[in-house]
Amino acid sequence: MMQSHMFSRDAVPGREQHLFLRVWAALMLVLITIGAIVAPLRIVLGDDLIPRTALLDALLTLLFAADIAVNAGESKRTGLPYGRFLLAADIVSAIPFYLFPGYSWLLFLRLFKLARVARAMGAWRQQHMHHWNALRLVYFIYWLAIAVHWLASGWLSLRGIYPGADRWTLYLHSLYWCISTITTIGYGDITPANNAQVVYAIVVMIFGVGMYGYVIANISTIIGNLQPARTRYLANMEKLGAFMRSREIPPAMQRRIRDYYGYVWEHRLGYDETSIVQGLPPGLLVEVSLFLKRDIIQKVPFFKGADDQLIKEIALVMQPVVYTPGDTVFLAGEPGADMFFISRGHCEVIGTDGRSIVATLREGDFFGEIALLEHRPRSASVRAATYCDLYRLDKESFDRVIAKFPEFAAHIGETSAGRRRVDAP
Ligand code: CMP
Repeated sequence: MMQSHMFSRDAVPGREQHLFLRVWAALMLVLITIGAIVAPLRIVLGDDLIPRTALLDALLTLLFAADIAVNAGESKRTGLPYGRFLLAADIVSAIPFYLFPGYSWLLFLRLFKLARVARAMGAWRQQHMHHWNALRLVYFIYWLAIAVHWLASGWLSLRGIYPGADRWTLYLHSLYWCISTITTIGYGDITPANNAQVVYAIVVMIFGVGMYGYVIANISTIIGNLQPARTRYLANMEKLGAFMRSREIPPAMQRRIRDYYGYVWEHRLGYDETSIVQGLPPGLLVEVSLFLKRDIIQKVPFFKGADDQLIKEIALVMQPVVYTPGDTVFLAGEPGADMFFISRGHCEVIGTDGRSIVATLREGDFFGEIALLEHRPRSASVRAATYCDLYRLDKESFDRVIAKFPEFAAHIGETSAGRRRVDAP
């Protein structure tokens, strides 16, 4: 029926192309990272540590060249500019360095391709804002690892390679020196032996201090932001507690207020759906409203077979409201300003004697329609028997929808007529 297509994830045009681009981007990131690790080792230690194969070199160059075509195609499709720096970095990286004799230092140029990684990280950041703290940590570790590796390689090249020495041992010692200097541990068992090494050690120490500053400045923000909604909720509850004490609100009432916020927190993370959705552009607003209200649309039997347009209109105007156990939704005799649909919980219709329970309404039921249909005061009181998630439809919207969709008017009228018969003496 309509729900199936309204809420299903229809095939997105170009999904395969999208998948290809994602796989390609992931492949590039892996290759660029491997390149950034291998390049300094090649430059400093020659080809001994990581044996060179012409086939792999050629393949890598070919893939980097293909990357230019893929990126140019993407930039044309999306209309986003390629970016001069990125284009230069991509072109330089695609040079077949392995064809030049004594080429190894040229591999430095491939480092520019790391700009692609930085850009991809920026894009992920936008897409996964809610995981930003975890991402920030991953990004930090990534860049730190690359920087430490390069600094260790730089130290190795300054120290020189003794003939016959084991290359891995030399690299490991450099890494050890680099990490102990950056972390300001500095055992002093490996010390600079000439001016160039002293200057290099100073640079690495300054880098280490800067890195520390960054970590300390960010750690408290990261921890504070790990659960932003929870932090906000706890702060609000504290404020609420202080307010209730200062206004001497009776303990039982305080408990009900707390229970209400606790419930809203548990079910909606304390967010006010309406105000968040309100800022969206019209098209997106309809889609998001339909999605957020899918629970009630699926629960109310009438909506299941209803017209798409009717569902859209109702989804746009229905507002969620929460009632705690024992709350009065409205009293008999009050003027009727809205009707309600039950998404979760039970509501009791109380007879005019103020005590007898005339009916218990459940998920998918509605109430409050009689006053709106017949323009008269409420025929009964309604009370929440449990926590209730309701959707409220105001009188103005109700009148508009009824006038526009006679089938909705007929359905509401039928149910309502049945109720009055039950009610009749
Ligand atoms: P309204 O008169 O606007 O306000 C009270 C509501 O209780 C009424 O609309 C109906 O929706 C509902 N109601 C009244 N009588 C019954 C009943 N017998 N069974 C179920 N619901 C009822």
